[in-house]
Amino acid sequence: MKIILVGFGVIGKGVLKVINLKKNHLLEKYGLDLSVVAICDSSGAAINKEGLDLELALKIKEETGKIASYPEFGQNIGIIEVIESVPADIVIEVSPTNIHTGEPAKSYMLKAFETKKHVVSANKGPLALFFKEITGVAKEHGVILRYEASVGGATPIINLAKETLAGNRVKSIKGILNGTTNYILTKMEKEQLDFNTVLKEAQELGIAETNPHQDISGLDTAAKLAILANSIMGREVTINDVVLEGITRITPESLLMANKGGYAIKLIGEVTDKKLEVCPKLVPIDHPLNVKGSLNVAMFNTDLANDIVVVGTGAGDVETASAILSDILNIHQSLKK
Ligand code: HSE
Repeated sequence: MKIILVGFGVIGKGVLKVINLKKNHLLEKYGLDLSVVAICDSSGAAINKEGLDLELALKIKEETGKIASYPEFGQNIGIIEVIESVPADIVIEVSPTNIHTGEPAKSYMLKAFETKKHVVSANKGPLALFFKEITGVAKEHGVILRYEASVGGATPIINLAKETLAGNRVKSIKGILNGTTNYILTKMEKEQLDFNTVLKEAQELGIAETNPHQDISGLDTAAKLAILANSIMGREVTINDVVLEGITRITPESLLMANKGGYAIKLIGEVTDKKLEVCPKLVPIDHPLNVKGSLNVAMFNTDLANDIVVVGTGAGDVETASAILSDILNIHQSLKK
């Protein structure tokens, strides 16, 4: 299968590392021969129909910051033009997210569909704003869109609910969908540190958004909740419908007091048929939603399977790429049927 990689930041690099690492395994176990024919960033692209050297691409990006510096095959070209003109099976769309406009990622996705390419995305913005339109256009063109990595990084949430729990009605989803705020609350409680000191640490760990306001205001969780509401519960909502409160008012003292009473304070996203909200909540210390550090957790209440809880890593290059790889494999297997 031929891949176009759109976006060469933390996640894009993770995708190349994982493809490199798993190349032989994918061929032997699944008969999947992956070849990356284009890599795009804001500088342009490297394009080779025979397949690019992934280690070289990572090295060039590390040294120059620009994929257009790739020897012989690097060029200054727009991303839309690459998607339109380079023959490929799948576009992996991991360009920077914009949760206010969804652009330019939305246009990249639509262009991929129009040119009959499947899309695997980790991009929250377009899906949290235009879920119905985007999935509709994919369907219209007869191509597959998968987006497991957009919510919970490596944690299998969307595909778990839609595929493994198929046949169940999911009545509610509750969870911690943002690693940065979970890290901050855990650290503030444990070490009684103030908000800004711990936020700085979270930024140094590389889990916070470029604009950490999106994490602490709850907007990042709201984007993910909107995606879950649409994809799992069939609700037609956007990020703008989420009732929202962030964690900026939480103090080390309030965390300590809650702890003495047998509770942790967590930023919880919750969706039911009627509710769509993100706010700090008291969670009993022995409750499965009380996960520590930068972990993510989702709890589904279903009609047949009752409660199901899944915990995992919500960010990171290779971790997020693991969800992307599983989506690629799923497309490969669907096309074989
Ligand atoms: N800033 C996000 C988080 C990254 O902290 O969970 C993954 O979406």
